[in-house]
Amino acid sequence: MALIAPSMLSANFLQLERDIEMINTSDADWFHLDVMDGRFVPNISFGLPVIAAMKKVAKKTLDVHLMIVEPEKYFEDFAKVGADILSVHYEACIHLHRSLQAIKALGMKAGVAINPHTPVTVLEDIIQDIDVVCMMSVNPGFGGQKFIPKTLKKITALKALIQAQGANTLIEIDGGVTVENAPAILQAGADILVAGNTVFSSAQPQATIRQLKQMGQ
Ligand code: DX5
Ligand code: ZN
Repeated sequence: MALIAPSMLSANFLQLERDIEMINTSDADWFHLDVMDGRFVPNISFGLPVIAAMKKVAKKTLDVHLMIVEPEKYFEDFAKVGADILSVHYEACIHLHRSLQAIKALGMKAGVAINPHTPVTVLEDIIQDIDVVCMMSVNPGFGGQKFIPKTLKKITALKALIQAQGANTLIEIDGGVTVENAPAILQAGADILVAGNTVFSSAQPQATIRQLKQMGQ
């Protein structure tokens, strides 16, 4: 059964509590929270105080995607505000193994996000330590972009790498997921679908979430 993680980047920030309640009462599994620093990516989103506020009303797993340089400086802060899963970018971590151990030591699940140009083979010697690979299917920084088709082959390759090592790592696909391309993404081996624009631009977001969820059965 696939997990659905709506990205709150596309929520209405003036109605954040209403949108969180919408997710709480939907078939969604996680809240996907995109943190951007204007350095790792050319955009700035929201950070710790907003996540702390969301935690008070959110009733599902908080999946925090850090698109920031030197993420290790803030692991403790994200643990304190209630992140359940913390993903760092492969491209932002010089000592990835150390970072993953630090995240787990703080009681969170550890994720690694990879940019579209990063091959999955770089994860070969670290896959056993990763709870979730957040595979970017757009260039990170903005919601509402178009899915990069090459991602499908990367999903298949990552799935094979995970299985070859008997790892329990989940594959999360982030960027440009729609009701049209979701079946192919799941078919290729994805476990989690992030969806921002698809959910929040829908006239019936909960029905769209249900539709995505049912595809993964
Ligand atoms: C992009 C973010 C994504 C984004 C997904 O930098 O990591 O999570 O919000 O949004 P959509 O589904 O609209 O591509
Ligand atoms: Zn994301």
